[in-house]
Amino acid sequence: MRELAEWLQGTPFSVTIQSVSWVVPLLQSIHIVTIGVVFVSSFMIALRVLGRIRTDEPFAAVWRQFSPWLWGGLCVMAVTGGLLVVGEPVREATSLSFWLKMALLVIAVAGTALFGRSLAAAARVELPSGAKGAAIALLVLWIAIIFLGRAIAYDVEVWGRLSLSA
Ligand code: HEM
Repeated sequence: MRELAEWLQGTPFSVTIQSVSWVVPLLQSIHIVTIGVVFVSSFMIALRVLGRIRTDEPFAAVWRQFSPWLWGGLCVMAVTGGLLVVGEPVREATSLSFWLKMALLVIAVAGTALFGRSLAAAARVELPSGAKGAAIALLVLWIAIIFLGRAIAYDVEVWGRLSLSA
């Protein structure tokens, strides 16, 4: 993996991302702003499941309103995050935080898709208790992903010898 990352880091595309001064700050800024879109959309969907907001409406109405922002935000984060990986592949490939974040991201995206599909058909206002537990678990996953995203820059400090760059 490290060899592949070192090869990628030497490619003209990666060198351009690394050397043009405004590219990485712009990508990071868009990435950070979009965290807000993704997290707030997930939060609003969870609040509806927990019966805290818009309980006079079926879940499907809230899902229809917020899920496009959630999926759209994730697409923007995949593009900006992917370009950040191309710009600093060795840093990301040797970061335990990065790989944990990617693993949790797969679970969060699959969980959210399953969640939406299984509940969107639910015409009932009151949702099953299992759904409430799942909504809280998904929120905890997104918060863990945010912390891991930030921890990438401090991988050795956070994980010590567990860090892949140690
Ligand atoms: C969809 C695929 C994603 C990829 C490929 C990706 C990749 C990255 C990369 C490469 C960085 C820069 C890390 C560094 O070198 O310091 C980063 C930063 C970060 N990411 Fe992601 N990310 C993705 C999605 C997300 C999501 C969904 C969230 C949260 C909801 C998130 C939260 C963060 C945070 C908080 C940072 C630190 C930003 C900073 O303070 O500079 N990322 N991400």
